[in-house]
Amino acid sequence: MDKLVIEGGIRLKGEVTVSGSKNAVLPILAATLLTDEPCIINGVPNLRDVNTMIKILRSLGKNAELDKGTVTVTPGKHTNFVADYKLVSTMRASFCVLGPLLGKLKKAKVSLPGGCIIGIRPVDLHLKGIKALGAELSIESGYVIAKAAQLKGSHMYLGGVYGSSVLATANVMMAATFAKGKTIIESAACEPEVADLAEFLIKMGAKIKGFGTPIIEVEGVRYLRGAIHTIIPDRIEAGTLMSASLITRGDILIKNVFYQHLGAVIDKLQEAGANITKTDSCLHVRPRRQLRPINVTTLPYPGFPTDMQAQIMSLMAVTAGISVITEKIYPDRFMHVAELNRMGAHIQREGPHAIVEGVKCLSGAPVMASDLRASASLVLAGLVAKGKTSVSRIYHLERGYENLEEKLQRLGARIWKEKE
Ligand code: UD1
Repeated sequence: MDKLVIEGGIRLKGEVTVSGSKNAVLPILAATLLTDEPCIINGVPNLRDVNTMIKILRSLGKNAELDKGTVTVTPGKHTNFVADYKLVSTMRASFCVLGPLLGKLKKAKVSLPGGCIIGIRPVDLHLKGIKALGAELSIESGYVIAKAAQLKGSHMYLGGVYGSSVLATANVMMAATFAKGKTIIESAACEPEVADLAEFLIKMGAKIKGFGTPIIEVEGVRYLRGAIHTIIPDRIEAGTLMSASLITRGDILIKNVFYQHLGAVIDKLQEAGANITKTDSCLHVRPRRQLRPINVTTLPYPGFPTDMQAQIMSLMAVTAGISVITEKIYPDRFMHVAELNRMGAHIQREGPHAIVEGVKCLSGAPVMASDLRASASLVLAGLVAKGKTSVSRIYHLERGYENLEEKLQRLGARIWKEKE
């Protein structure tokens, strides 16, 4: 296993290009199951999660290859409707093969993904939506078995205790493309990744309106064709790099950004004292003289993303004053707090809140990554800490950041990989 070693204290400076969005590409790859024709997806980041989805597509009978940022998916010899526990349990996003398998093959058997370190993460909303489309559902030996000779369009409400669900919206929208008649999804997730999926499905011939809003309408069709699509830039990687610029008091030009997708992040960072200039598809990020503490609450899009909560916490950990960070999507997503405190941060957790008292400096320490975004927050802390930080279990980081270490090196950071 590899760990990342960082010698902190360098002001990052230069240009960096954001990769394609992990959370957009995963459901889009699943959507290729809806057609027997070839699909070409460009701008695909080379990530562990993308490679897992490619393995799942292959296990379901597709030929799929990632080569230089392009995934080509073509039909294989045999189709299979069973998504195996071994693959699904490694990545929750693989559960969104349920909708396309059911829509295309009229039956699907997909392992339940189980919880993960950031919470219980149920799939009740996925199942509610699939059932509303008329599918017969059962759970046997840890698998969801879904059958429907003909899915039927329906009017459904998909909001849950924590608001809308990104992947449940994606799953149901994909199944509904083959349902007879009109489906209306109320309280649909508005995330740009759901909109990117809708754009891909429309290229395939689907009839979808309202994506990007809480009410999505899908008019079922009988046939979907192959399509070519380029994935949107990763807004969470962009937000992480913005935080890297501010935490090191650096000066970074971040390229390949849709800043329209980053409204809440830009607003909060500006409130903290960032100087952010938007030009075409770039963001120029540097701090004003002194950063200020801020209060942040995570919410579904267009609110502040939960996937940026850990990174903003690292930034506030070294910003003088008291910041309160409230997590409204995954109330237990605070595994990074204890690790940041090991580096000298003063953070206290109170239920869904973290009260952060900014310190002058952090000190490098061996720390352990618990999940993808927590790993990013530890790397950010390491960039500013005095001395050496080693972040172990970086396979979490590799699930969602393409070449982060190289990108930071090019900005001047002293960061490298070592064997544990
Ligand atoms: C997606 C993202 C993940 C991000 C999350 C929230 C992908 C691959 N992953 O995950 O990076 O952190 O959105 O923005 O896109 N919930 C239920 N029942 C369900 C489904 C979800 O109660 O059936 C709850 C979850 O436990 C959570 C909240 O709803 O509290 C939002 O989760 P959801 O939007 O579904 O997250 P994912 O789509 O799994």
